[in-house]
Amino acid sequence: MTKKIVVLPGDGIGPEIVAEAVKILEKFREEGLDINLEYGLIGGAAYDETGTPLPAETLEISKQADAILLGAVGGYKWESLDISVRPEKGLLGIRSELNLFANLRPAILYPQLADASTLKAEVVAGLDLMIVRELTGGIYFGQPRGIRTLDNGEKQGFNTLVYRESEINRIGKVAFDIAAKRQGRVCSVDKANVLESTELWRETMTTLSKSYPDIELSHMYVDNAAMQLVRAPKQFDVMVTTNMFGDILSDCASMLTGSIGMLPSASLDENSKGMYEPIHGSAPDIAGQNIANPLATILSAAMMLRYTLDEASMADRIEKAVSKVLDDGLRTADIYSTGMTKVSTSEMGDAVLAAL
Ligand code: IPM
Ligand code: MG
Repeated sequence: MTKKIVVLPGDGIGPEIVAEAVKILEKFREEGLDINLEYGLIGGAAYDETGTPLPAETLEISKQADAILLGAVGGYKWESLDISVRPEKGLLGIRSELNLFANLRPAILYPQLADASTLKAEVVAGLDLMIVRELTGGIYFGQPRGIRTLDNGEKQGFNTLVYRESEINRIGKVAFDIAAKRQGRVCSVDKANVLESTELWRETMTTLSKSYPDIELSHMYVDNAAMQLVRAPKQFDVMVTTNMFGDILSDCASMLTGSIGMLPSASLDENSKGMYEPIHGSAPDIAGQNIANPLATILSAAMMLRYTLDEASMADRIEKAVSKVLDDGLRTADIYSTGMTKVSTSEMGDAVLAAL
């Protein structure tokens, strides 16, 4: 049966980078991959056209899709809008409405880019870590939230960090299952010394680990984890953490790989239906200039082939092609170093296509 893929380019560099990943999917379609691509609006682009960052139609087609490929949302233009209609609300809304609770953010260093990292090559060489971020709970969604005026007239902003055992268990299982196919080690990141919600997180992970005797579970406070990520990142195999800690730590981990422009992600529901997106944002400062790095989005398409479309060999081909173009010395501006060949967004996409 034809698999339905919804493409949501979004804002900023979103349309440019998504176009490069689509070229690759189209090539596989010509080779016989049975997919159908349908486009939708999200984020600021959707707000401008429909008055909402997540139009009902986008949600509807996304619910019916087998997988979603998303670019990025947000930009200066919409920063002063009310938070309820900001572009980011579209992204958070679709994650939540589709129950995409498991966000996989692999940080792999392509050996060719060891010099592009701001860290010493020996610290990052061989890096291969997986951050499993809880994506539909925690402080991003907890109620109550808002900005209120106190009796003395002063304003107060407030958010709520909440986690239920069931939410912790389901993300924990994802992390343990992934670790079982890797080095078998899970590091759960929390702030259990200060926050009760993550004290429960730690207890629940510990209990869950009893069902996974072959997996080694360790715990780390988030401040220490941030330090360890830049001090000795190769100590980690799988890290599992809350929505907000995962947001922060994955940006941090991306720089180990040379550029945030290299990191793909998958956001999965209970049935491995997923939305695939680069972890970087919409980069409005460079939008429309054909200089953004499309590799994170291209690698996100590879994750889509692997996790939702069950086409591991096509995913392998993309990953090998990316490695090949890096071997050939092609670099977008964010990963450029002297002696390499600087290429545009579309030239990078074409090179990967040719290397398939
Ligand atoms: C990410 C982004 C989003 C997040 C923003 C754009 C809402 O930073 O996917 O990491 O905070 O989750
Ligand atoms: Mg982020």
